[in-house]
Amino acid sequence: TGLVTLDIGYKNTGATKSAITFLDGDLGILRYRGYSIEELAEKASFLEVAYLLIYGELPNKETFEKFKKDITLHTLVHEDMRKIFDGFPASAHPMGVLSSLVCSLTAFYPASLNPNRSPDAVNLTIIRLLAKMPTIAAWSYKNEMGHPLNYPNNALDYCANFLYMMFAYPTEKYEPDPVVVDALNKLLILHADHEQNCSTSTVRIVGSSQASLYSAVAAGINALWGPLHGGANQEVIEMLEMIQADGGNIQKYVDKAKDKNDTFRLMGFGHRVYKNFDPRARIIKVACDNILNKLGIHDPLLEIAKKLEEIALKDPYFVERKLYPNVDFYSGIIYKAIGIPTEMFTVMFALGRLPGWIAQWRELNMSREPIGRPRQIYIGEKERKYVPMENR
Ligand code: CMC
Repeated sequence: TGLVTLDIGYKNTGATKSAITFLDGDLGILRYRGYSIEELAEKASFLEVAYLLIYGELPNKETFEKFKKDITLHTLVHEDMRKIFDGFPASAHPMGVLSSLVCSLTAFYPASLNPNRSPDAVNLTIIRLLAKMPTIAAWSYKNEMGHPLNYPNNALDYCANFLYMMFAYPTEKYEPDPVVVDALNKLLILHADHEQNCSTSTVRIVGSSQASLYSAVAAGINALWGPLHGGANQEVIEMLEMIQADGGNIQKYVDKAKDKNDTFRLMGFGHRVYKNFDPRARIIKVACDNILNKLGIHDPLLEIAKKLEEIALKDPYFVERKLYPNVDFYSGIIYKAIGIPTEMFTVMFALGRLPGWIAQWRELNMSREPIGRPRQIYIGEKERKYVPMENR
């Protein structure tokens, strides 16, 4: 054990060399493949960013058209997958449904399990996953609602098609609102990668055993689900609603978060790497105002969130610990404004993070990294002799 360095929670341990995402936590900088998150969120489409993350360069017109066409060819899921949906109770959390159904893709495409995959086979798996995950995600919501499932509409682009599968009614013509499509596009870009976070590290460690991309991403979805990671976006809205229901007493919740005898934390606050404003939160806060204005929505939860931020950022507890709003703090207010139900928020995060997971899995495989296998320092009992049951 003398050779083992202990770093519980990997606070200072680099696990890989990566060329995908650059993050400076002190300065609040985030770049995908060298491009600033601000510029990408302003100018790019989500699928363009997905291509950039996965293949390393922005696509030209021709490669992008082919990429989009390949994706639309695979948006349907196997009809037998409907039977799996049927087996879930309506009360099933959509994240559990999503991870199970993504893992079930290994059964429908068993060739993905072969560790000696050709680059073409890997690309087909990547395209299938990008194409099918929105369908599975929207169907997990439809299953919860007890609604008929909407099949993909390939005449629409990636974001608009997802909204169509979520919200279209068979008897009405569905016209996605461009403001809503733009908002979704921006949010997905902002979530697309974030270097070695908990779910991405999970994807890499599962992938390092040469497991298939589907299994690695299913594991990533489960890691993302937790309230300290992607699950925080659902928790933020629930917290703001709780404050609202409690007469808007924000100070009470700030005090509760500071109380070391209370497990409550300000959800959407703090970050392992950012010790400054999370650049994604900065963009989302501005977008939140714009989108709600354009949609003519006044949400009192936004007022509570802004006030909460103001109070926390003046409080020495948060100042000393450098706790700022993170990506999850304002995103839920936008999701709510565009009609996404609260329990789907983390699913939206997963849809956004998918290209990052794929890019990291691909990078790991291409650089032939060894299996991920941390060490430990054993602190249990020394050698003991087995005691027969009657003598215990
Ligand atoms: N509310 C109150 N206190 C906090 C908070 C918070 N949200 N976050 C951190 N602290 C305190 C923590 O109690 C500790 O205090 P002390 O030094 O007195 O023990 C100190 O700040 C450092 O926190 P930590 O837990 O050691 O930091 P970490 O890097 O292990 O955890 C975190 C990072 C994001 C898990 C944590 O800040 C947190 O739980 N935040 C709330 C959940 C959340 O918003 N998660 C989303 C993260 S961003 C998007 C994503 O990854 O999905």
